[in-house]
Amino acid sequence: MNHAGVSPERTRALAQAERARYEAANPRSCALATRAAEHLMFGVPLHWMNDWATPFPLHMAHAEGARVTDVDGNERVDFCLGDTGAMFGHSPAPVVAALQRQAARGLTTMLPSEDAVVVSGLLAERFGLPMWQFAMTATDANRFVLRWLRAATGRKVLLVFNGCYHGTIDDAFVHLVDGRPRQRDSLLGQVHDLTATTRVVEFNDLAALDAALAPGDVACVLAEPVMTNIGMVLPEPGFWRQAIEIIHRHGAKLVMDETHTISSGPGGYARAHGLTPDAVVVGKPLGGGMPCAAYGFSAELAARAEAAKRAAPPGHSGIGTTLTANLLAMAAMRATLNELMTPAVFVALHARCTRLAEGLRAVIARHGLPWCVTQVGARCEFQFCATPPRNGSEAAAAMDAVLEQALHLALLNRGVLITPFHNMMLVCPETTDADVDHLLVALDEVLSALAGLE
Ligand SMILES: Cc1ncc(COP(=O)(O)O)c(C=O)c1O
Repeated sequence: MNHAGVSPERTRALAQAERARYEAANPRSCALATRAAEHLMFGVPLHWMNDWATPFPLHMAHAEGARVTDVDGNERVDFCLGDTGAMFGHSPAPVVAALQRQAARGLTTMLPSEDAVVVSGLLAERFGLPMWQFAMTATDANRFVLRWLRAATGRKVLLVFNGCYHGTIDDAFVHLVDGRPRQRDSLLGQVHDLTATTRVVEFNDLAALDAALAPGDVACVLAEPVMTNIGMVLPEPGFWRQAIEIIHRHGAKLVMDETHTISSGPGGYARAHGLTPDAVVVGKPLGGGMPCAAYGFSAELAARAEAAKRAAPPGHSGIGTTLTANLLAMAAMRATLNELMTPAVFVALHARCTRLAEGLRAVIARHGLPWCVTQVGARCEFQFCATPPRNGSEAAAAMDAVLEQALHLALLNRGVLITPFHNMMLVCPETTDADVDHLLVALDEVLSALAGLE
């Protein structure tokens, strides 16, 4: 048995059997994967689409509500939901209608429409921050926010938590190796030493945060309120209130990246927990599946950012892309904010996810496994450790890539899709109790197979 309480031999045997089952059930996906290899690097449009547990990529034919259907006609209940992009369901009706209306009236003009005014007002009301700007992806939003923060504060250094992910913003690609900061070896083509301007500490470590901020050169702390990208890591009680006090005492700003923790409620985790960051980033589901992201600033920070821009010589600021805030994106965000990102929708999402989390705990207990389950609103995750990890290092130590992949593939073969990276599950408005039960039965069956009980 390994640290996850399973036998590595049985895990390998399960993976082998599931690969054969997948190959037999997905001949059209297999044929498309062969064709794709002719003109797509790695055989996929984006290299990490190859990182799923499947022997060859599953090719999609249809996605609607909580379900996806592949080109072989296999239907699956989707708990991955585009890793949050489709948190309000695939092709949600209000967004489809808004896109159809707007599509005939102009897609992009490099000028605002009324939607921009309405959307910024809705964002201010939801997140409690008065001033907003837009981006097309959460990655871009984080990149732009960091630039604004450096310009506004005149400070160079970024501080992140070990094991974080904020998209492909290079500056955040620094982690701790044996307690020392190191640029991640996986990062391609970066020629600058990022450790010169990025500091990294463990989550939930207030003393380390205080020490890292003490030199007075940190522009901002960029953080998810709950870490979600190395498995989930919850803040300890009181952590954020004390962290905010420390950050501000050292003259730095707090940027909360709510791209995943928007699962907590219509104003994200910070609003749901009465926290007041200086800036917020929100992406993925904001346009109901369309590429849209936004960031909000406090009045004080917005004034400093505007002053920095006005004081700069004319020319490119390094912020923005041509299609950002296009008419279609604005229409999608307006529909999402008005009809999907609402308190009523979140009440239902949270209830369904609680049922899922409780069901997962029961299945895991029935199999006597030392795994824990963490829930943050509409998303939950099981991790291969008995007690929830307190920081990125502990979360990383709990991981088991071979086991993870075997489980994901076995679930997929039983009609359930979960995210390819760690064991995250998300519910959307169309996810039913029966869908949750389907997942729980499938997991129970897979764990029985893993224990050799089948
Ligand atoms: C917390 C967080 N921020 C930002 C991003 C980047 O989002 P995108 O890939 O849409 O740019 C991610 C992606 O997973 C994320 O988890």
